[in-house]
Amino acid sequence: MPPKELCLLDDIPDNSAKGMVAVIQGKQRNIFIARRGDVAYAYLNWCPHTQVLIDQIPGQFFNEDNSFIQCSKHGALFRVEDGYCVMGPCKGEYLKSLPCNTKKGTVSLIEE
Ligand code: FES
Repeated sequence: MPPKELCLLDDIPDNSAKGMVAVIQGKQRNIFIARRGDVAYAYLNWCPHTQVLIDQIPGQFFNEDNSFIQCSKHGALFRVEDGYCVMGPCKGEYLKSLPCNTKKGTVSLIEE
């Protein structure tokens, strides 16, 4: 399956994230793309704690100093690089990561 183009990397300010809807395995899903420098990370927008959108405050995916992804419902902190929850009620769990890459400035999902 060809990669699915999502957005331009430059659409996402560094150390922030952008939410969107993408079709994954035939279903519309809320996802978000987090950016660290030249690298983009894609995750399902779905907190493992109570299965709600991470950005209960729409568009707010990061904590105050932009060091972690933060669920705005109960404040769980997730590493940007792998979605691991380092603090909060779902500590030790992961966000569901989605394989993606950035080529020529375009972020794409790689569907298996
Ligand atoms: S719903 Fe995300 S931390 Fe509780």
